[in-house]
Amino acid sequence: MSATRNLPSQLVRYLPTNEAYDRWAVVYDTDGNFLQELDTIELKELFPKFLLSITAPRPWRVVDLGCGTGRNTMLLLGVPDVAEIIALDSSRGMLDVARSRLQKVDDAVGISINSPSRTAPELHLEVFDILTASSPPIVAQQADGVISTLVIEHIPLPAFFYQVSQILKPGGVLLLTNMHEQMGAISQAGFVDANTGEKIRPTSYTHTIADIVAEANKYGFDLEKIGEVEGKGIRERAVEDSMVEELGPRSKKWVGIMCWFGGLFRKRRT
Ligand SMILES: C[S@@+](CC[C@H](N)C(=O)[O-])C[C@H]1O[C@@H](n2cnc3c(N)ncnc32)[C@H](O)[C@@H]1O
Repeated sequence: MSATRNLPSQLVRYLPTNEAYDRWAVVYDTDGNFLQELDTIELKELFPKFLLSITAPRPWRVVDLGCGTGRNTMLLLGVPDVAEIIALDSSRGMLDVARSRLQKVDDAVGISINSPSRTAPELHLEVFDILTASSPPIVAQQADGVISTLVIEHIPLPAFFYQVSQILKPGGVLLLTNMHEQMGAISQAGFVDANTGEKIRPTSYTHTIADIVAEANKYGFDLEKIGEVEGKGIRERAVEDSMVEELGPRSKKWVGIMCWFGGLFRKRRT
């Protein structure tokens, strides 16, 4: 059992989500969070399916909603058909890390941040709070695709799907991943602040897959089939013993428990 889990409960501090992520940003990419690792593994299959499912004429505008440190924005940078990438997040701390990470790629391959370039995707990084903004930034609207990974845990479902419906064109596709409800029933996002030893937790909601699919439907989204099995639209993933080495020691206590799910949703054309 890790030191983190031995901490007495009074050392858990709940902070407003933006404040929690501003503080988490410093160690978000290095603190051994196995769910990010699992997400990375699963996106190797889901992300190509997402790209194949976009039927809009090329080139595409794609939004990373709740981009965090740019972990998955990086995937978009490697897609030749993506001409515009809009990375949105409510935490300035997370966006700062994303900016510096993506800037390194910028320097290496000539991507232009917040200014157009003919040879490389145009990348915009903007502060955007799903909960408080009345609509998405203009630059993010009429998008052909949205990716939103490990974000919806922090957002009531109507607010999330309202904003995604404002971002996507009719026929556009959302790639959504999140902590599975089985894991969410006993845990939530959080990190240990190395300065204080406190476990910091933002606001989280345990959304069931059924609730997410139902709410998506209300906002005009249909689940895409992604598996070989007829009607299989959501992939659910438990941690297996054989994965612990790759996912890291923090995944060990989750063996046998569903921890991740992902799927694709298409905005109805009418
Ligand atoms: C677990 S991180 C995921 C980051 C990134 N998508 C990834 O997969 O690594 C959750 C992200 O959601 C962002 N977030 C939380 N609430 C938000 C809101 N109301 N509006 C926009 N972003 C939000 C956080 O700031 C954080 O960067």
